[in-house]
Amino acid sequence: MGIPYSQKVIEHFVNPRNVGKIENPDAKATEGSPACGDMVRIYLKIDEKTKRIEDIKFESYGCASNIATASITTELAKGKTIDEAKKITWKEAADALGGLPPVKVHCAVLAVDALKTAIENYENQHGLIVNKKPTDEKKVRERLEHVIDPRTGLDVIRSKLVQEIDVKDGIVTIKVDMEKEHQFAGNVESELKERIEPLWDVKEVRVVFNKS
Ligand code: FES
Repeated sequence: MGIPYSQKVIEHFVNPRNVGKIENPDAKATEGSPACGDMVRIYLKIDEKTKRIEDIKFESYGCASNIATASITTELAKGKTIDEAKKITWKEAADALGGLPPVKVHCAVLAVDALKTAIENYENQHGLIVNKKPTDEKKVRERLEHVIDPRTGLDVIRSKLVQEIDVKDGIVTIKVDMEKEHQFAGNVESELKERIEPLWDVKEVRVVFNKS
């Protein structure tokens, strides 16, 4: 027997809203689920004066609920200010879909987290962070727990792809257990950078590969 999805979930899966990419977005974020290894990416266009989300799009690399929950999350967020959009919860997204089977709740968490991270990235880049704590190893580690290792589907911390993190004078160096020639090296490098570069005090991210 398949998973008992609501009509609304099926409808958003078959006909997702706001799918695609925004060129030159004001913010974006890719969020990976440590629970299942799936990913979703959110792009935002934000009005600089009103701080309203003018446009939002998503790309999904995941299951049917990943697509449906990302679709409904973009609908809930569109037209809201970033402060309002930050308050959207996974429960709201799941309720708006008429509920989700318990094993699929993390899919809604993922979509809403991607939105939150994209907004957080925007705030970091626009001087809107209230508690300006300097980026440290712990912060970098926390953020990297949401980047998926394409080889294993685990997050890059759990899979031990990331071996060392060093933060000094705004330069974050991430040592990875992978050779530069690996087919996923380019992919890994850009995902790690995308996740850390937006932090307000980070000037540069260096990804160091194994010597081949
Ligand atoms: Fe991974 Fe749905 S099972 S996002």
